[in-house]
Amino acid sequence: MKKINIGNGEISASEISLGCMRINEITSNDAASLISTALEQGIDFFDHADIYGDGKSEEVFAEAIGTTNYSREKYMLQTKCGIQPGYFDFSKEHILNSVDKSLKRLKTDYIDVLLLHRPDTLMEPEEVAEAFTKLHSSGKVKYFGVSNQKPMQIELLNKYLEQNIIINQLQLSITNTGMIDSGLNVNMENNASIDRDNSILEYCRLKDITIQAWSPFQYGMFAGVFLDNDKFPELNNKINEIAKIKGVTNSAIAVAWILRHPAKIQTIVGTTKSSRLKDICQASRIELTRQEWYEIYRAAGNKLP
Ligand SMILES: NC(=O)c1ccc[n+]([C@@H]2O[C@H](COP(=O)([O-])OP(=O)(O)OC[C@H]3O[C@@H](n4cnc5c(N)ncnc54)[C@H](OP(=O)(O)O)[C@@H]3O)[C@@H](O)[C@H]2O)c1
Repeated sequence: MKKINIGNGEISASEISLGCMRINEITSNDAASLISTALEQGIDFFDHADIYGDGKSEEVFAEAIGTTNYSREKYMLQTKCGIQPGYFDFSKEHILNSVDKSLKRLKTDYIDVLLLHRPDTLMEPEEVAEAFTKLHSSGKVKYFGVSNQKPMQIELLNKYLEQNIIINQLQLSITNTGMIDSGLNVNMENNASIDRDNSILEYCRLKDITIQAWSPFQYGMFAGVFLDNDKFPELNNKINEIAKIKGVTNSAIAVAWILRHPAKIQTIVGTTKSSRLKDICQASRIELTRQEWYEIYRAAGNKLP
């Protein structure tokens, strides 16, 4: 498993991370097998959130990793806060409470990276700064980041924070490429040229903020998996053709497509199956050519100018 530098080199981590949003849905035995497979494959970075499974995912993970003999410093834990039922909450009180609860559920005394989950328009950046400084100085959180934020929101936070934002977790898959489309269609009078995220891809590269891709196999917002899906015949034909050439599965190609981008994006995969995870990790040993990358992009229905 290849490693990448996160942020400005603050952390070095596996380029594929396991997202634990769905592990509350599986048995303890299956979770133990999934986590040990991840570690054996070289995955040393696990993504959580306080809300996954209403807290249960963090608990299931803690139990599962406890069955392995990996010590705490061998892997990194990331969790998120800021989503409450029906609203967003970046208040100091909520951030501090949420971290304390995650630490308890994860059975650890520190979190490697804490992300603000989704923008809270009622955010007082001074309060976020106070919360981060308290968490950092107490040793509860080492590094900080955001999720689903655009450049000016990060700039606003940066005006007040004492710590660097090292990660921005964003939705990205072959069928969800807004941040790439707008950069390819500059000056065009088509929908793909609409820059909905304000050049977030280029901004993160400029500022040494690592983009993490969430839901790398989903189309829409959890509408389903595009692989082996009749809705995407051309895309699946192309992915399967390249998978055959490279000797890997279609899942590995979907991840290799993200990893091929020079922005050095860390991909957060959410499978709950050990066998599928092993197949996906093969993505790290192959590299798509420039031509293959664009062929897949076009097969997803994207037109180049
Ligand atoms: N920051 C945010 O706002 C945000 C939002 C959503 C998610 N996330 C993070 O991103 C992680 C990944 O999200 P996700 O689980 O939606 O992503 P995903 O990896 O795109 O999807 C995984 C799901 O797809 C299923 N699947 C079916 N066929 C598949 C195939 N051929 N290859 C791979 N998966 C297949 C998996 O089933 P099996 O389990 O049966 O393999 C699993 O249910 C989450 O765990 C979470 O950590 C963050």
